[in-house]
Amino acid sequence: MNAVHDAPRAPSHDGEVLVAQRLAKHYPVRRGLFGHGTVKALNGVSFSLARGRTLAVVGESGCGKSTLARQLTMIESPTSGALAIEGHDVAGADKAQIAALRRRVQMVFQNPFASLNPRKTVEQTLGEPLLINAPMSAAERAERIAQMMRTVGLRPEHAKRYPHMFSGGQRQRIAIARAMILDPRIVVADEPVSALDVSIQAQILNLFMDLQDQFKTSYVFISHNLSVVEHIANDVMVMYFGGVAELGNKRTIFANPRHPYTRSLMSATPAIFESDRRIRIKLEGELPSPLDPPSGCTFHQRCPYAIERCRIEEPALREVDGRLVSCHRAEEVGDADA
Ligand SMILES: Nc1ncnc2c1ncn2[C@@H]1O[C@H](COP(=O)(O)OP(=O)(O)O)[C@@H](O)[C@H]1O
Ligand SMILES: [Mg+2]
Repeated sequence: MNAVHDAPRAPSHDGEVLVAQRLAKHYPVRRGLFGHGTVKALNGVSFSLARGRTLAVVGESGCGKSTLARQLTMIESPTSGALAIEGHDVAGADKAQIAALRRRVQMVFQNPFASLNPRKTVEQTLGEPLLINAPMSAAERAERIAQMMRTVGLRPEHAKRYPHMFSGGQRQRIAIARAMILDPRIVVADEPVSALDVSIQAQILNLFMDLQDQFKTSYVFISHNLSVVEHIANDVMVMYFGGVAELGNKRTIFANPRHPYTRSLMSATPAIFESDRRIRIKLEGELPSPLDPPSGCTFHQRCPYAIERCRIEEPALREVDGRLVSCHRAEEVGDADA
């Protein structure tokens, strides 16, 4: 272990393209006339992602999913914690290394109407990253663009069209093509089907999965919809109030969620659990104010399992029954409903 000339390496297992360790992002905010506070939008999130795999990130609006996405894609710098991409520590990387890492992590946003420049043709949108990053002739570039358009299910003869001439689903295909054109290792997709018609969502999900088969891309796939997650994920990370509630293999978690919050999310998703006879937990109340975080477990005010300890002691993320879970009563939660 004497990689003096390499960027510092965070500990990672073979084949892991992304390792986050205790990532945190705190935003300073004004509070009233003179006061100021801190929003802990992301508060110590750790996970790793292997090549060609999909980690789905789920949780209610406001739990920190997009904040996590902005740290992973290096749009922002975390307040603390470490991020390693293909073994390279982002914090220790110089400008040139960061530029190289940025090419390997691409993002797809929720709304393809907002994320595509309305004044640029498909050809211009897809050609730009190639112009900047890949030395090739104009003819080679045109061929690469045509090939990418076919790959995402668009017709190359539409290359000179503008975004408004396409449907929502087609626009998201353009955004996906733009993300994929430099052959990234990681794509962070933030609610990429949430803005689309339900009838289109499955097609776009299938496209994501086909592309992953073809290019072995790793996905961080953010969604608030558990049906979507069940379709696409290998692993699932359930977030609550900036932290990790439960993290593990999709089958393990779906078969027997051990965090009351995961359980309540599943209860609210009838499509998957129609035949499910488990006790359902109704999610009551709203996320606490990020400026005034609760003591102990951040979920205790909404949790039907909460006991005195939950009001006082913050639960550590620990292994229970083959997954990681941050709940003092995780053992009982699963068993009580089995
Ligand atoms: N730039 C910012 N300044 C202050 N607070 C922010 C900022 N960005 C996000 N937040 C807050 O951080 C929390 C998490 O937001 P976000 O990551 O957008 O959640 P999600 O994507 O899960 O809906 C929210 O309380 C949000 O208001
Ligand atoms: Mg969001």
